[in-house]
Amino acid sequence: MAGNKFCLTTPAYYVNDVLHIGHAYCTIAADIIARFRRFAGDDVLFITATDEHGQKIEDAAKSAGIEPIALADRIVAHDKKVWERLNISYDDFIRTTEERHVRTVESVFNALYEKGDIYKGMYEGMYCTPCESFCVESQVKDNKCPDCARELERIKEESYFFKLSKYREKLLKHYEENPDFMKPHSRKAEMINIVEGGLKDLSVSRTAVKWGIPVPFDKKHVIYVWFDALINYISAAGYGNDDKKFSGFWPAELHLIGKEIYKFHVIIWPAMLFAMGLELPRTVFGHGWWTVDGEKMSKSKGNVVDPVKMADDYGVDVFRYFLFREVPFGVDGDFSEKALVVRYNTELANDLGNLLNRTLTMLEKYFEGKVPQPGDSKDEFRDMMEKSGARTVEYYNKYEISSALSEIMKSVGNANRYIESSAPWKLAKENREKLKEVLYDLIEAIRIITLLLAPFMPQTAEKIWEQLGLESKISGMTIRDISWGGLKPGTKVNKGLPLFPKDK
Ligand code: MSP
Repeated sequence: MAGNKFCLTTPAYYVNDVLHIGHAYCTIAADIIARFRRFAGDDVLFITATDEHGQKIEDAAKSAGIEPIALADRIVAHDKKVWERLNISYDDFIRTTEERHVRTVESVFNALYEKGDIYKGMYEGMYCTPCESFCVESQVKDNKCPDCARELERIKEESYFFKLSKYREKLLKHYEENPDFMKPHSRKAEMINIVEGGLKDLSVSRTAVKWGIPVPFDKKHVIYVWFDALINYISAAGYGNDDKKFSGFWPAELHLIGKEIYKFHVIIWPAMLFAMGLELPRTVFGHGWWTVDGEKMSKSKGNVVDPVKMADDYGVDVFRYFLFREVPFGVDGDFSEKALVVRYNTELANDLGNLLNRTLTMLEKYFEGKVPQPGDSKDEFRDMMEKSGARTVEYYNKYEISSALSEIMKSVGNANRYIESSAPWKLAKENREKLKEVLYDLIEAIRIITLLLAPFMPQTAEKIWEQLGLESKISGMTIRDISWGGLKPGTKVNKGLPLFPKDK
């Protein structure tokens, strides 16, 4: 039976260029959470998207000498391959050029216009094309964008405006009453400050841009690309095209995005939803940014990291593991291949790989590869493992996925220490009963660790599962299976090749 409905989203990625690790980071995080929620029994709708309209894409297509839609088609085909390579289990990939989205945007624009929340005026001010963002004049210095420091354009054109200012109090009240709406909590103060400082109505159409969704009743305008793109979340969830689906999956539980687009998601998007009379997503999580070897990633520096190359060189699971192990989810971090190799050798090959290898070797040596009978009483090790498992689940539930991963690796460390302290090679001579207990504990701990690790490292988890000799597929396991004692005595393990060969 299907459980809770759980909708989560990644940003809609621009199609002016190919994906790099910054994008992969957000989508892998979403994938980890989606996999965990399915494991926890939820009926998940995991949405990813591409943001295909606007000046930035129009300009990129012009430079490439092709039509914007041809550029978008090319990038989308590439993006889909990247997501497949990174093992992303999305349920829906929506393009903002798709009919189902365009219709929704048009109907929202019409409805807000009729309601008086969109009105016609004149926009005069600064515009940043790389950010597709109108800038607040008082924050602009030397004609540079206050967010990305790139050159601004002065524009003066007739425009439709969205009455953002009208929703100031409602937004503040929502922040106050929903402490987990903004996560991590460290991002709250800045946003509250912006809203408290006063909100100006937002220009939501352009006449100078051609590549976009025309305003339905005034075709010389196209709808501002952010107004268009944010709506992808509801068009994919079924708004205006599948009411039953929408009522089940909306509000989304989680929008995952990077910090630089946080304000669009916690100020503008919620105000749009208020205007539409729809509920707000439960949580907007803004993660940090990656630098590479201490420097900002940029094409001109030639240091843009290709996630597919990382997966090819180190294995997709190793790359996924590293991203969430190296840096707490939510803060900025620095990517270095050197650090990745160190973690590969120490934590994956030595700690996790060897734990499995040593345990299976001992089972073969002392019990002909069969899982022995567990002890009668709950020992200290089991108690520690159960508590750690419960903490891991809590972290997953709060989207603190790096903490979940470090808790899992603590369990791996505890299991390795348990081997040292209980010295099975001595027990083999002195105490067979105790030996059975220790080896049952170890192999059962590995089984539970594997289930908890699976959202991060799905392929590795499958490989471990095979070596444990379990008949049931890991994909059919649920959160109930992390309770202690699931492994049946007598199961014949199936020792295989090392998980992480030491050749990196
Ligand atoms: N199209 C908008 C989002 C619209 S959502 C309705 C957009 N697209 S983007 O292609 O630029 O992708 C942005 C996402 O990639 C953001 O979440 C951003 O934080 C993330 N990253 C881009 N560079 C990054 C790093 N160097 N590090 C981590 N994430 C980064 O913005």
